[in-house]
Amino acid sequence: MYAYDEMDRTLVNERVSEFRDQVKRRLSGELTEDEFKMLRLMNGVYLQLHAYMLRVAIPYGTLSAPQLRKMAHVARKYDRGYGHFTTRQNIQFNWIKLSDLPDALEDLASVGIHAMQTSGNCVRNVTTDQWAGVAPGEVEDPRIWAELLRQYSTMHPEFTYLPRKFKIAITASDHDRAAIKVHDIGLRILNNEAGETGFEVLVGGGLGRTPFIGKVIKPFVHGRDILSYVESILRVYNQYGRRDNIYKARIKILVHELGIEKFAAEVEEEWQVTRESALQLDDEVVADIRARFRYPGYEALSDTPDELTAASADPQFTRWLKNSVAAHQQKGYAIVTLSLKPIGGPPGDATAEQMDAIADLAEKYSFGEIRVGHEQNLALPNVAKRDLPALWRQLDKLGLATPNVNLITDIIACPGLDYCSLANARAIPIAQELTRRFANHDLADMIGRLHINISGCINACGHHHVGHIGILGVEKNGEEFYQITIGGRADEGAVVGTLIGPAVPYDDVANVIEDIVESYLALRARPDELFVQTVERLGVEPFKERVYATR
Ligand code: HEM
Ligand code: SF4
Repeated sequence: MYAYDEMDRTLVNERVSEFRDQVKRRLSGELTEDEFKMLRLMNGVYLQLHAYMLRVAIPYGTLSAPQLRKMAHVARKYDRGYGHFTTRQNIQFNWIKLSDLPDALEDLASVGIHAMQTSGNCVRNVTTDQWAGVAPGEVEDPRIWAELLRQYSTMHPEFTYLPRKFKIAITASDHDRAAIKVHDIGLRILNNEAGETGFEVLVGGGLGRTPFIGKVIKPFVHGRDILSYVESILRVYNQYGRRDNIYKARIKILVHELGIEKFAAEVEEEWQVTRESALQLDDEVVADIRARFRYPGYEALSDTPDELTAASADPQFTRWLKNSVAAHQQKGYAIVTLSLKPIGGPPGDATAEQMDAIADLAEKYSFGEIRVGHEQNLALPNVAKRDLPALWRQLDKLGLATPNVNLITDIIACPGLDYCSLANARAIPIAQELTRRFANHDLADMIGRLHINISGCINACGHHHVGHIGILGVEKNGEEFYQITIGGRADEGAVVGTLIGPAVPYDDVANVIEDIVESYLALRARPDELFVQTVERLGVEPFKERVYATR
């Protein structure tokens, strides 16, 4: 865990009093909704279809047990008893009353949690791998750099009114769990030949109306220069980004229009000015941040404890173990993913009772730490293998041990027409229906890794472009229709999926997905050829033929 200092605490608290005053002025009518909009968007407050929504940041997806408990408290006291974990390591409360917002933020501030820069045209919550610091083989804990970028970008005066929102993600592992290639800036930590830590820098990735995969702008930027290099990118974007057209305002469009070489040359020129500035990170600064991350006092434990051997006789436990438990850097420990995708449930929701119980379990079994991943699941990053059977039994009772992580029912979905004022169509009920269709875990297991991502409109909050199967809600003559893409990926091999044909009506979506899955099962070369690999090998044609043969 990272320990905030006095400056952070003061900043967070002052922000709450400032916002309290703004809300007071809105409630008294002194501010119109239009005037208030800019102020609320500085504090993660959106106006949705039915109510205000509060989006709260979870920096680099790391939460302490008291922080999660406080979120449970906010859900219970000010909302309808649940919260929604998003694809960018945030949590959203959907039903908060405006008059309660300052109190909710004050309660969150008491544990160092805030909503700054979770909306608006600024640098948003810097995200990273939910397994940071515990994933085997990672170059270094990416949260150290995420924290440096967080401190650098928080309330940065020059970048508070960028042409559009700006998202940065970092990974330090070969397998990219942070989707860095679909971010405005993607950073991959690596060591150069001299053994120095630095970054491969990607720029111009993004989803939305015009999806792009990020391009490498510089293969190696030394760690000491990363802030000045990011600053140079932001400056070029701030100067040339298309403020004239909201649909063309993201950096991806600028990079596309200029071409990566020209954009890189502009950044390089700017960098010559900023490089030797106060932004250069000396070793002590990095060491200081590194030292503020406290790591658990791991014990020397066995990788094959008796408890684990005894529990292996239970097929249900074994299924969960195989599906939801991953290897850890430390011998005798494991990373446990908590599925927030129960069969028939809305993806990414957790009730206040579940959050409280997870906080208790984290204290008992994971050195008090919880992680949030972009797939809208949680993780306990530090579980002793001997505790896995006991933990599983308790998670199972809480409905948090569905063995579907990375399988067809581990669906990413945006709020869609159930909450969002921009939506064309529902997303959550489609996800719920699909989890029911594929509720048989043997079948899901046999199908293997398959990510379905659903968005309720072209803004792509549900990452549909990069789902192995992507489902996008569109409107046709006032009715909900859905475009289906296949072959997308969000990881290190990121690619935008291909449309298979005309949109299909709401009632037919689950049937279409069943047809696609059946074709895949018939077409795959081997049982371990993943869905995306079959699509890559054969293209979309065979799937298209099957789906539209009878439609
Ligand atoms: C009130 C609800 C929401 C509104 C009004 C909203 C609005 C938007 C808009 C307008 C965009 C397109 C931005 C662009 O391309 O310039 C967008 C993108 C995105 N949003 Fe949301 N969103 C909402 C909820 C969510 C939720 C719940 C999630 C996570 C589950 C989310 C995650 C994202 C992501 C990942 C993107 C696309 C990636 C990118 O920035 O290119 N949003 N959102
Ligand atoms: S994708 Fe569209 S419908 Fe879904 S949350 Fe984003 S803006 Fe709303």
